[in-house]
Amino acid sequence: MKIGIIGAGNVGATLARKLIASGHHVKLGNSRGPDTIRALAEEIGATPVSAEDAVKDVEIIVISIPFGRIPDIKGLLAAVPRDVTAIDTSNYYPYRDGAIAEVDAGKPESIWVGEQIGRPVIKAFNAALAQTLADRGQPKGTPGRIALPVAGDDERCKRLALELVEDAGFDAVDAGVLADSWRQQPGTPAYCTELTVEQLRFSLSSANKARAPENRDALLNLFLNSAAPLTHEDVIAMNRKGQEATCSRSRP
Ligand SMILES: NC(=O)c1ccc[n+]([C@@H]2O[C@H](COP(=O)([O-])OP(=O)(O)OC[C@H]3O[C@@H](n4cnc5c(N)ncnc54)[C@H](OP(=O)(O)O)[C@@H]3O)[C@@H](O)[C@H]2O)c1
Repeated sequence: MKIGIIGAGNVGATLARKLIASGHHVKLGNSRGPDTIRALAEEIGATPVSAEDAVKDVEIIVISIPFGRIPDIKGLLAAVPRDVTAIDTSNYYPYRDGAIAEVDAGKPESIWVGEQIGRPVIKAFNAALAQTLADRGQPKGTPGRIALPVAGDDERCKRLALELVEDAGFDAVDAGVLADSWRQQPGTPAYCTELTVEQLRFSLSSANKARAPENRDALLNLFLNSAAPLTHEDVIAMNRKGQEATCSRSRP
């Protein structure tokens, strides 16, 4: 498919690499212009473009920029046909993004994102560390394959996002409508814990909305104040331990 990715950082560039490897055509854009990502794009096989060009003549748009910068792209998708699928990978960390009152009051992050850009989004690829996306994808059918949640309201768009997750090397789990997408936000047991399909379904169903923000901030504090550098395995283990505490039951 023809995919435009806005954001060429840890997640945007990683997804570009994975999706090109599985046969998609990817345009990659950032805020500073194509010259700043030309070498990266060439290495990956993507076409470097401006953010304005990333959303033109594509079937899927992936938005992968810091949550706090979403308002910068308010008008960017205004002329994009309504049948183009918009996927949001973002996560809200008030420490990094600044406090956003509506989200602090409980509005699911990706509903807020959709309101900012003027169209609904599908939430996908947010609940895995960039390193997980880069290194831990496996062929379909591999025992223990990591599963990732996909939430959204439009069934056709969600189906396309589920297919992209599979193409990137992960079992795709339909996590319901966008109103339920808080179940895959930071601080929940589904978030960046590298689970199988069965474990992920259980974690999504046992998430605790009220405790997630507090848990998100407590975990971030642990990461920021760690005395020694943390490995990928450390982060996953800390996420599992910290977020499991918010489950009402034990994970299978
Ligand atoms: N890192 C992870 O492990 C991870 C995992 C899952 C989800 N996420 C979420 O995915 C999103 C991206 O994370 P990341 O780690 O990839 O961030 P990142 O490495 O900091 O990269 C952000 C990218 O967004 C671009 N950007 C920022 N503002 C923009 C704008 N107004 N228009 C166009 N491009 C813009 C930046 O380009 P310029 O430098 O040119 O501004 C940069 O290429 C975040 O919401 C994050 O929470 C991250």
